[in-house]
Amino acid sequence: MPAQRAIQTELANVNGIIAPIERATISVTDHGFLYGESVYETIRTYRRRAFLVTRHLERLERSAASIMLTLPWTRDHLAGEVNRTLAAAGDGPGEYAIRIVTTRGDGPFGYDPALCPTPNLVILLRRLAEPPPDPREAGISAAVSAVRRNPIESLDPRIKSSNLLNNILAAHDARRAGADEAVLFNTAGFLSEGTQSNIFFVAGGRLRTPSLDCGLLSGVTRDLVLDLAAKMGIEREEGRYRREELGAADEIFFTSTTREVLPILRLDGRPVGGGSLGPVTLRLHEGYRALVERFLAAGEEGI
Ligand SMILES: Cc1ncc(COP(=O)(O)O)c(C=O)c1O
Repeated sequence: MPAQRAIQTELANVNGIIAPIERATISVTDHGFLYGESVYETIRTYRRRAFLVTRHLERLERSAASIMLTLPWTRDHLAGEVNRTLAAAGDGPGEYAIRIVTTRGDGPFGYDPALCPTPNLVILLRRLAEPPPDPREAGISAAVSAVRRNPIESLDPRIKSSNLLNNILAAHDARRAGADEAVLFNTAGFLSEGTQSNIFFVAGGRLRTPSLDCGLLSGVTRDLVLDLAAKMGIEREEGRYRREELGAADEIFFTSTTREVLPILRLDGRPVGGGSLGPVTLRLHEGYRALVERFLAAGEEGI
């Protein structure tokens, strides 16, 4: 009999109750569902161990505070629930994207936080489609979207909100243009980020990424890559960049928890630099992989 491939379990933990994802439910009166009043984090596993949980939980707390959502759970409790859900999935091949979603909770119609005394907590374990380990095989195309990133004064992109319509509309736009991903500029015409990732580019040997005042998520991977660049002696800069500067870049890449360092090989239908993986992107990709190995050997303290 041919060996059966193990099917990776996908689980949901809803307020402490763990069940197969397709059976998990949440109330239709939840204000996350009704109004998008919800903040979240996406963590990933390496060899089924959750990567950089503390940094993600810190950001979750910051996002929650920005929408005046008081989280009744300690960081230890949340990390414990993540680990308990992972343990319930058991061992096996394949990695998970772990989504921690917190919402205002159930309540009558209305915007007063007092209507919803108890926030909901959902932890989802979904199979992670990993990027290829060799960055030469991982490059994607991107298109500059006509959709502008939400201005900080309207809906600050530093809040990791489950209300993702701004990102989704930009992603639709990119797909219509035949590209894999969208690049967003802000309303002042400065580069901000991708729909699910931060963006970096290399020009004249110097690594550049938009400063946080351009309106973007303060990415965990963005921070790691900036630190790596400093350690590797790569000149780096955070600033405000126009469309023409991005268009003239020698290398461009996205960063995110699930996609790590992801090269952009075509922008708006034209090859970036030589159209193949650039040296700075490759070095940072290798540096990132080395960091993951250190995590696997020594935990978060190893990084
Ligand atoms: C809009 C946006 N920017 C950037 C990122 C990258 O953040 P991180 O590196 O913390 O995953 C994400 C990740 O989901 C995102 O949604």
